[in-house]
Amino acid sequence: MVTRVATVAFQGIEAVPVDVQVQIAPGVPKFLMVGLPDKAVKESSERVYAAMIASGLGLPPKRITVNLAPADLPKEGSHYDLPIAPGLMAAIGAIPRDALDGFLVLGELGLDGRLAPVSGVLPAAIAAQSRNLGIICPASSGPEAARAGEGIDIIAAESLLALVNHLTGHQLAARLQPRKYLPNGALPDLSEVRGQQVARRALEVAAAGGHNMLMIGPPGAGKSMLAARLPSILPPLNPRELLDISMIQSIAGELAGGAISDRRPFRAASLRLHGGSGRRRVAGKAGGSESGA
Ligand SMILES: Nc1ncnc2c1ncn2[C@@H]1O[C@H](COP(=O)(O)OP(=O)(O)O)[C@@H](O)[C@H]1O
Ligand SMILES: [Mg+2]
Repeated sequence: MVTRVATVAFQGIEAVPVDVQVQIAPGVPKFLMVGLPDKAVKESSERVYAAMIASGLGLPPKRITVNLAPADLPKEGSHYDLPIAPGLMAAIGAIPRDALDGFLVLGELGLDGRLAPVSGVLPAAIAAQSRNLGIICPASSGPEAARAGEGIDIIAAESLLALVNHLTGHQLAARLQPRKYLPNGALPDLSEVRGQQVARRALEVAAAGGHNMLMIGPPGAGKSMLAARLPSILPPLNPRELLDISMIQSIAGELAGGAISDRRPFRAASLRLHGGSGRRRVAGKAGGSESGA
């Protein structure tokens, strides 16, 4: 008997449906994983095995085969741990066989059975919604999944054990509310630029018309400074743009806690924005801005 669990593979920001098929059959004890898994996916057998034991769910000494279908699509990332584990649990009867019907599952497992956040939860949740499925994900990825919309059914569990308790009806996980947008306060503002009337005018024209901009000048003339302040005069993102950008940030693992900003993104080669923690590159077309370094 084969149990099936729905999950996704990512191609760019697109979430492609993947079917995790788990079979436990008599034979020499072995954990086989097929369906073009990369190294991180192959190693998931070790995490799943340890996490199940830590959760008090021993696996029978039998031959376990996990197939990730379609078999010709390469599978990358650590988010296949979670769909494999409940597939096994259903196969050994720890949870009802139909408990995972109607859910798309993704998440990474720690050896102690805790669920670790994964990237790409937002595109996965949107894919789940379009297929009329709910989503099962790690608790810390829950707010990000909630971004996909009001109607989506989300089970965001802290650990494998909490998920089992939820699926068997012993202890239900709490419902989730989408997190508010990040405040935009600390970002650079055009008012900090002194003088530069012509450059400022050019920036305003570019912002108003959605034009590209090329700045040429000696080092220290203020090109990077001006470019970093373009988002402060661009209109807020519309809902469609917000979703597109959030999907990219989700895949890149930059949606901390599912909180997103309606400010236009800005990336620069090696510029530290005040208050910012990372290095950002010059904005692409989505922000409507371009600049020389
Ligand atoms: N018009 C200006 N008003 C205020 N500060 C400026 C101005 N032009 C340059 N600066 C200061 O000089 C620094 C260097 O400018 P920067 O934008 O990095 O130059 P560039 O990118 O053209 O080499 C800025 O971070 C800023 O502190
Ligand atoms: Mg510069």
